[in-house]
Amino acid sequence: MIGVPGAGEPRRDPAAAHGRHPSAAGRSDRARSVRPSARASSAGWDGHGARRVGQNGPVQPHPTRSVVVLGSTGSIGTQALDVIARNPQRFRVAGLAAGGRRVDLLARQAAESGAEVVAVADTAAVPALREALAAHRSTARILAGPDGVAELAAWPCDVVLNGIDGALGLASTLAALEAGRTLALANKESLIMGGPLVKRLVKPGRLLPVDSEHSALAQCLWAEGPPGEGEWIGRSVRRLVVTASGGPFRGRSRAEMADVTPEQAMAHPTWSMGPVVTVNSATLVNKGLEVIEAHLLFDIEFDRITVMVHPQSVVHSMVEFMDGSVIAQASPPDMRLPIALALGWPERVPQAARPVDWTTAHTWTFEPLDDEAFPSVALARRVGMAGGTAPAVYNAANEVCVEAFRKGRLPFLGIVDTVAKVVDQHDPTPAESIEEILDADAWARARAAELVGR
Ligand SMILES: NC(=O)c1ccc[n+]([C@@H]2O[C@H](COP(=O)([O-])OP(=O)(O)OC[C@H]3O[C@@H](n4cnc5c(N)ncnc54)[C@H](OP(=O)(O)O)[C@@H]3O)[C@@H](O)[C@H]2O)c1
Repeated sequence: MIGVPGAGEPRRDPAAAHGRHPSAAGRSDRARSVRPSARASSAGWDGHGARRVGQNGPVQPHPTRSVVVLGSTGSIGTQALDVIARNPQRFRVAGLAAGGRRVDLLARQAAESGAEVVAVADTAAVPALREALAAHRSTARILAGPDGVAELAAWPCDVVLNGIDGALGLASTLAALEAGRTLALANKESLIMGGPLVKRLVKPGRLLPVDSEHSALAQCLWAEGPPGEGEWIGRSVRRLVVTASGGPFRGRSRAEMADVTPEQAMAHPTWSMGPVVTVNSATLVNKGLEVIEAHLLFDIEFDRITVMVHPQSVVHSMVEFMDGSVIAQASPPDMRLPIALALGWPERVPQAARPVDWTTAHTWTFEPLDDEAFPSVALARRVGMAGGTAPAVYNAANEVCVEAFRKGRLPFLGIVDTVAKVVDQHDPTPAESIEEILDADAWARARAAELVGR
């Protein structure tokens, strides 16, 4: 594990955090990776990809994939580097990008991974980065500023992993897709903001979900086998069931969340993540964003996406089929599994994460979402159905409110209440151009800041 102490490791998964992985799991995963011509039909994710494991034939050698990791110093980024470091025959690092808050970590990552280029969004961090690279004996070239990060997103490589947090990830998503790169997408915000604009740029099989829920849905659809000329979603899928841990305040009424502090909101019961996505998991805005993400990735109507609260975070999502059958994907909470699958798609990376321990008893529970206590998901559905610039407004207003909450300037319940007000005051436009999306984003930020009282 390279990286920030505490970042990138599931709180309740110490064995996985130390790389102790029963080897049998890897072998069975390899066997299960045979899915002849499996593909989904959506514009966003279609499951295409060359198979290297013949149905009954020998395992072919894997060509090493070069990977650009954007947001390398964050929770997703450090876990991606861990996956890459543990699989040198499968992956190598081509380049790394970060914001500039942790230059020493970035330089150490560059030295350890052998990255040829590093990008840093904050130009003021360049001198310190240059010094740190020299101290760590890395000869990586530096690209500076947001344009430097976008240049790296388009860098020649096999896969770009976008692990930047928030709306700032949009430029990189667009740059990677415009350059025709395969994009492993953790930065859901860019798909949600960009919507149809991003989807138009996606070539078949080139957008791979990293979010554990969407990776799970992709795997469940993959298990369905070839869709033929029809579409899975239209032909055999009845609904997608997106699971939610429920966050630290699961089971509380709205009144019981009136006084929660940022520290309480940051204490997620099952996942260790960056600060914004952690607060979003407490308000369930993250689940709202994920419902829109599922709609966009799998081309399915909002009323066919159900959210179920599953506090153990082992079943990462499910697909219900027309005949009443449900296929679920289960694994202990560890983002290295969906990261490894996205980087190695369509093949599984053996021992990417610890599997469920079938020698002990488990209780997995599922309960409906309390929409009254957590109105963020219903609001996201409304916003997603409105389409156009509305999702960008929902996301931008939320980012402003989360920051205000973390700084003690907005109560917890004020986050979603304020987002709802901003959304209600917005007149969505079609979001056909990047300018239109960025204008809506800027408007929502300004309006939310006014309502929060700066
Ligand atoms: N963490 C999870 O388990 C998880 C799970 C599913 C989805 N996601 C999604 O993955 C994304 C990243 O989440 P995270 O938890 O990894 O966030 P995080 O820990 O806050 O990390 C964010 C990363 O982005 C970098 N960054 C910030 N601004 C940048 C910019 N302008 N250009 C380039 N890099 C920039 C940061 O660099 P500095 O170090 O310089 O700040 C850091 O490396 C989010 O969209 C989140 O919703 C996360």
